[in-house]
Amino acid sequence: MNLIVANDYADLSRVAAERIAAAVARKPDAAIVLATGNTPMGAYAELARMQRAGAFDATHIRPFQLDAYLGIPFDDERALYGWLERAFLRPLGIARERVVMLPDGAPDPEAACRAYDAAVDAAGGFDLAVLGLGPNGHLGFNEPPSPADAPTRRVILTEASLNSNGPYWGGRDRVPREAITCGMRHLLAARETLLLVSGAHKREILRATLYGPVTSDVPASLLRLAGKVTVIADAAACGRDDPTWRC
Ligand code: GLP
Repeated sequence: MNLIVANDYADLSRVAAERIAAAVARKPDAAIVLATGNTPMGAYAELARMQRAGAFDATHIRPFQLDAYLGIPFDDERALYGWLERAFLRPLGIARERVVMLPDGAPDPEAACRAYDAAVDAAGGFDLAVLGLGPNGHLGFNEPPSPADAPTRRVILTEASLNSNGPYWGGRDRVPREAITCGMRHLLAARETLLLVSGAHKREILRATLYGPVTSDVPASLLRLAGKVTVIADAAACGRDDPTWRC
């Protein structure tokens, strides 16, 4: 696992966008699973800028949705698909038909999860995973504990996730209690992973991810068993001013 310490959020976003663009330059039809959340927004905006300048071409990529709230229609503005569409797909001119989506209120979520995993397998696995770090170490909505072989599935959100997502919903009590997440099995098998981490509020969980025990209780720590993983964290998340920090 490599760690890149960015000076600030703008620097993190630029470095992440360059890494994504490099992966797509190597493989224009890369299968890419993409997080929403606040952290990757700057990188996605930077990619759109790069595409306008002719330095990036999203024409052939195969995007995969990372997670979804159960029972929230994909076109609801609070749905994570809607966020992905506003932040990534539309600015890059990617049609919905090209995206492998997760079920929202599908009548049979379990069957839809199996179909999603089959689609990842049919794509040959992920070429690139662009992930954020949950406050409890979750990846997507792989809540602790999530074993390394966890499939795409329906999950009950933890208190930590209800609290951290409360601001997006106008309060913790309005956050849906269940979600669907791409499983750890496919995320850990990605040929390249970028884990983006920003802000002092992520400092402790970043430490646990990088230096704590490798455990399903901190799902992101399992990335240390995976292949090519790069953590791009800004100085605030690293706590460079903290003398006990080791980076
Ligand atoms: C959310 C999402 C994740 C996201 C993470 C971090 O709950 N389920 O996909 O990566 O938590 O979000 P943020 O980047 O806003 O800190």
